[in-house]
Amino acid sequence: MSAMDGSSIAPAGGGGGGPVDQMIPRTFRITRVIREVAGVFTWHLEAEDGQPFAFRPGQFNMLYLFGVGEVAISISGNCRQPEKLVHTIRPVGSVTKAMAELKAGATIGVRGPFGRGWPVEPIFGSDVIFVTGTVGLAPLRPLIYEVLHQRDKFGKVVICYGSRGTSDILYEDELHQWRGRFDTNVHVTCHSAPAGYRGRIGSVAAAVKIARIDGENTQAFVCRSESLTRPAVNALREKGVTSDRVWVTLERNMKCGIGLCGHCQFGPTFMCKDGPVYRFDEIEHLFAVREI
Ligand SMILES: Cc1cc2nc3c(=O)[nH]c(=O)nc-3n(C[C@H](O)[C@H](O)[C@H](O)COP(=O)(O)OP(=O)(O)OC[C@H]3O[C@@H](n4cnc5c(N)ncnc54)[C@H](O)[C@@H]3O)c2cc1C
Ligand code: FES
Repeated sequence: MSAMDGSSIAPAGGGGGGPVDQMIPRTFRITRVIREVAGVFTWHLEAEDGQPFAFRPGQFNMLYLFGVGEVAISISGNCRQPEKLVHTIRPVGSVTKAMAELKAGATIGVRGPFGRGWPVEPIFGSDVIFVTGTVGLAPLRPLIYEVLHQRDKFGKVVICYGSRGTSDILYEDELHQWRGRFDTNVHVTCHSAPAGYRGRIGSVAAAVKIARIDGENTQAFVCRSESLTRPAVNALREKGVTSDRVWVTLERNMKCGIGLCGHCQFGPTFMCKDGPVYRFDEIEHLFAVREI
């Protein structure tokens, strides 16, 4: 089945068969670098071997900058376009800052796709609400594309997005496009804004409170920081969305990406294979434990 035309998504592939294959990166060429908001960039990548890269929304790759190091980065592109791999990166340390220096034409190594993605087919028929902030929109974007691609399979679709200011709204053009649709509600809110700003000011949790959803028939997708997750989950609960219908994606240090090294342990789970997407009721008890 082609990922381009079927109603369901092609099975994820590209990680190879056994553990040895999954440790060997494929070479990808950067075809485009997009400077998003300050300090955040997006890469468009094509496989040097010309093979498509199938993945499911919510999965991540290990990106290897040759001679520098490897980091886990969510896939932020469209799984219906497996010929183009897309990643959005915020440079924070040695590897990601070195990646920020690369230009179109450079090559990197890619291992993946890894991890459990967002559920898609099991939530057909539900209202859907996305709750996220800043670069947390990147891991959710593939799911937003997919829900909009199969729009008739879902009830109401609401996107609540929070940024710090008015100049760091990620994928602002796409948020405008989604807001322009008659079948999607988009609430963008900024923590602070210059005088005269006509948009919404406040927290993303406050935006959840005004969202028009049928709480008892809603699946919620929340990303990313744990400090955003808790108030968002509380606001969702007030709307009747119980934790067994809230999905979150989490981050931990990753090394192997395939459940071998233990670096990403989160309670009894390995985030690289049991996550990074979790149903909130599965991990709620771990949220209370600091630095677990
Ligand atoms: C499943 C998964 C998906 C991810 N998806 C993305 C993505 O789509 N885009 C993206 O930009 N990043 C993403 N990350 C985070 C990314 O992996 C880290 O930012 C990266 O590993 C940092 O490596 P570094 O060598 O550049 O920095 P390091 O040298 O490892 O760290 C430098 C500093 O940054 C801090 N730091 C490290 N990781 C993070 C983090 N996650 N958030 C904030 N501060 C951090 C460290 O504590 C340290 O102070 C993801 C992580 C995981 C586990
Ligand atoms: S990163 Fe090695 S077990 Fe998860």
